[in-house]
Amino acid sequence: MQYGHFDNKHREYVIDRIDVPVSWTNYIGTGEMMGVFNHTAGGYLICGSSEYHRVTRFRPNGVPMDGPGHYVYLRDNQSGDFWSVSWQPVGKPKEHFSCRHGLGYVKYLCDYGGISAEQTLFVAMDEPVEIWDLRLRNDSGQMRSLSVFPYAEFSFHQVDMDNRNFQMSLYAAGSRFEKGVIEYELHYEEDSFQFFTADREPDGFDCLRDSFIGPYRTERNPIAVESGEMSGSFEKGGNHCAALKQSLTLAPGEEARLLFFLGEGDAAAGLRARDTYSPARVDEEFRRLAAFWDEKLGCLQVQTPNEGMNTELNLWNLYQSEINVMFSRFTSFIEVGGRVGLGYRDTAQDAMTIPHSNPKKCRERLVQLLRALTQEGYGLHLFEPRWFEPEGREQSFKSPTVVPTPPRSQIVHGIRDACADDALWLVSAVVQYIRETGEDGFIDEVLCYAEGGEGSVYEHLKRILDFSARQVGQNGICKGLRADWNDCLNLGGGESAMVSFLHLWALENFCALAEHLGRREDASRYRELAEQVRTRCREVLWDGAWFLRGITADNRKIGTETDAEGKVHMESNTWAVISGAATPEQGIRAMDSVDEYLFTEYGLMLNAPCYTKADDGIGFVTRVYPGLKENGAIFSHPNPWAWVAEAKLGRGSRAMKFYNALCPALQNDRIEIRQAEPYSYCQFVVGRDHSAFGRARHPFMTGSAGWSYFAATQYLLGIRPDFDGMIVDPCIPAEWKEFTVVRRWRGSTYRIHVSNPDGVEKGVRSMTADGIRVERLPILPVGSKCRAEVVLGTEEGGADR
Ligand code: GLC
Repeated sequence: MQYGHFDNKHREYVIDRIDVPVSWTNYIGTGEMMGVFNHTAGGYLICGSSEYHRVTRFRPNGVPMDGPGHYVYLRDNQSGDFWSVSWQPVGKPKEHFSCRHGLGYVKYLCDYGGISAEQTLFVAMDEPVEIWDLRLRNDSGQMRSLSVFPYAEFSFHQVDMDNRNFQMSLYAAGSRFEKGVIEYELHYEEDSFQFFTADREPDGFDCLRDSFIGPYRTERNPIAVESGEMSGSFEKGGNHCAALKQSLTLAPGEEARLLFFLGEGDAAAGLRARDTYSPARVDEEFRRLAAFWDEKLGCLQVQTPNEGMNTELNLWNLYQSEINVMFSRFTSFIEVGGRVGLGYRDTAQDAMTIPHSNPKKCRERLVQLLRALTQEGYGLHLFEPRWFEPEGREQSFKSPTVVPTPPRSQIVHGIRDACADDALWLVSAVVQYIRETGEDGFIDEVLCYAEGGEGSVYEHLKRILDFSARQVGQNGICKGLRADWNDCLNLGGGESAMVSFLHLWALENFCALAEHLGRREDASRYRELAEQVRTRCREVLWDGAWFLRGITADNRKIGTETDAEGKVHMESNTWAVISGAATPEQGIRAMDSVDEYLFTEYGLMLNAPCYTKADDGIGFVTRVYPGLKENGAIFSHPNPWAWVAEAKLGRGSRAMKFYNALCPALQNDRIEIRQAEPYSYCQFVVGRDHSAFGRARHPFMTGSAGWSYFAATQYLLGIRPDFDGMIVDPCIPAEWKEFTVVRRWRGSTYRIHVSNPDGVEKGVRSMTADGIRVERLPILPVGSKCRAEVVLGTEEGGADR
């Protein structure tokens, strides 16, 4: 069953049937101010931090679904009938409403009672101002008298003060109205003010939420909207809202456009916003937003025989990956701001995947992670970047409730809380950044360590590799510590196969970098270490038909033929292949086992059979319900690892089978099962052992976005930047005849046409760049345009694997 369709021409997903099973969200903003909104305008806005600086309030996990939001109510003054443009909260018959999710904006459309209305929410490009662009048209054939009420509820800024501890915040927030501007403040804060205003003088206002809504009512039927009368409320103390009233009459066919601005700053800032954002300027801002995304999407465009893949790579998958890098992970309907800062491993992986479209932000993320590395060589699992900034930026929010500030020694957690994989991702992310940008000098930049002291980026990376070399268990495999990539695999001193494979992968990447930089001594020292790790992995971790997942502290194998539960695991088998630890025969065998035990029509499950008996030697994963999350769900993030592994093995049809099963765009007609939005990868899809098999959960904020993009572009389509040239080494289904990729790289544009006359799955027969035979695409003077012809086939080979 479908609820909507992809409108790729306008780069929108259109929700035609508005009562989707769960919230379908989207993000607005490209800088400090950002918001997450669903298909009914439920959602919230933040500025800078979802922990400390929430602009509007959200009542998470609530009933009715996901509110409040940034609503516009319309009222027919003759009949008294009223509705909201975004369907909810009033909830008139659903067939009158639709929604368009675009890149950095949301549009709500309705056609009710003879009035067509469209409400667009987006954020101005250079300033923290959210623009509400409302357009109305009278289609009724009669004169109409209408009232328009924009409404949002202000937040007490800090997530705890907003949701739990009201004893100060309720009496520290105030509002007033002056010259058409609502000013809201948290009196004790430095960055305290927000404003709400319109492009014209309002006919009424309310700053107090409870005056606007009225007692024993909800956002569904506010007293002010029902009666058409605002009470002009404001006060020092209480819960506050941004609510205005505009009255207008529309002749038959007449149109009106109303603009509202919700921004950071006091009443004076509100007045400035009102002067600045004329309708023409708002149009200009909207065009700039489109140009912002044009620029990013233009870095890589594909034309392949797979429409789902085209939609993903050309639009939604890159968008989702960018959202993760720009905004990090803690602003959604699921993670509502209660955790601080950046997660080490997630951020490192996100930043690895899109340096081509966002080199600046990826670099910034890498620097933040490098500064949060301990001298010992592990990363701080969760940290606030500002803790380690040399300029020592203070968090402007100061809690009026006395909450002791922890000393630095407590911010830097010990090895007990270290995750064995966290920093290993960073090695490959830094190398990937240099492959993309050619910025070799980054490696010599001097940065601090979390507890103090400093060293070059290069030294940081060596400490990470050395840490994992030291942290091995009784079998010579890396310890699992608090967790590895799988948060729920808690092996402590037990050993994690995945971490040893990741270690090997990081070593390989580092050695390639050291060789490129001519640092031969390091290259050979770490090459030697890599060989030791490889040998150890092959000796200890091979189980006969797949690789073990690990070994418990009391020396029991995890993921072995004799196990009744948790027999085969995706993480270890995919990484055995990606890292190059597996021999080709082992790789093929292991990935065949992955296909046999883990494949479902919705993607690959993390492990099978699921755990049903608690085993604390293995960890929390054994206490998770079968089929959910880390216990045998189709956890999306590792799925692309399987595509990379299959691409390395040269099995393009198998890789594409895995790709297609997970591909959200290909699930658009199965929403009764998937439930979640088909324009976003979700953290997981419920696995086979659960009654809700196929249901997807937790959109947008997931490592599957970046990894899907990275795996599909670099390993399936095979376009991979390297230090001194672009590798083209696709791995595709045999029936693909051709595909084209336009890729920007180091300031030039490469138009790469790949043809497959012999119907192979892998292997480049010949490659030319502007007619000249090449092994790799050359780095060209900035501004060049290069046409590459790549012919796949069995005869000549020639590409790097
Ligand atoms: C969540 C976490 C991520 C972890 C994964 C598997 O997605 O954000 O860090 O790797 O779960 O446990």
